[in-house]
Amino acid sequence: MAQRGWRPWRPGDTARLDGLDPVVGHRGAALHAPENTLVSIRRARELGCRWVELDVKLSRDGVPILMHDEEVRRTTNGSGLVENLTFEELRRLDAGFWKHPSFEGTRIPTLAEALALLVELDMDLNLEIKPCPGREAETAAAACDEIRRLWPAERPPPLLSSFEIPALEAAQAAAPELPRGYLVERVPADWRQTMQRLECVTLHIGHRHNADWAIQAVAAEGVPLLCYTVNDAARARTLLDLGVATLFSDAPDRIWPVVQ
Ligand code: G3P
Ligand code: MG
Repeated sequence: MAQRGWRPWRPGDTARLDGLDPVVGHRGAALHAPENTLVSIRRARELGCRWVELDVKLSRDGVPILMHDEEVRRTTNGSGLVENLTFEELRRLDAGFWKHPSFEGTRIPTLAEALALLVELDMDLNLEIKPCPGREAETAAAACDEIRRLWPAERPPPLLSSFEIPALEAAQAAAPELPRGYLVERVPADWRQTMQRLECVTLHIGHRHNADWAIQAVAAEGVPLLCYTVNDAARARTLLDLGVATLFSDAPDRIWPVVQ
């Protein structure tokens, strides 16, 4: 698989990551289209994004699909836990009408379908491994398998991330060539050690969960810092000025104008 020349971050490193954009469409373009669907990926592209962030978990029968919540209620016309539903059951659900009637008929996509569309649109991916409880390693391994099977060797690989350390450990073991991002709400005291142990290239944090002085201090250590979820242009500008490299946004069209 092609590589961007990204290396795991180490204290003292200050390199910017070639190819990582300052704006990443969050769950596609979640303000404008039903999140984590193919139409949301297309919308992000139309809004100027090369990069999108998507959440992957497994159906009961082990198919990697795009879905944020543990339950399907918020983003489909169904109910129940994803971990209890087979792919066939999930696929019958409407994943678009809740957002707007014009999206009626939208289906929950497989990771495989999303990867194919990203390649077609010449886009890059941050895949967040969002496992159902207890399926951390299995979800990471399945995602790595799909990427290895479907992602063209000549394209730089997707960036994996997860809040779940066991998922990152499993990805590191299954596909060490895929770059990893350490994803946290609040930056923990031992973030440097964890990043080095997991050989992570990036640190992904919640901008609301950390004081601005703390964001600035972490950025000043040279780690490529990505912040979620930023839908306000003024806040985006502030974060960029603090040294944040990249902003995840549901509304990338609001953020691009303040990126230099
Ligand atoms: O990956 C960044 C961000 O998506 C993490 O939070 O809950 O939106 O998946 P969440
Ligand atoms: Mg996410």
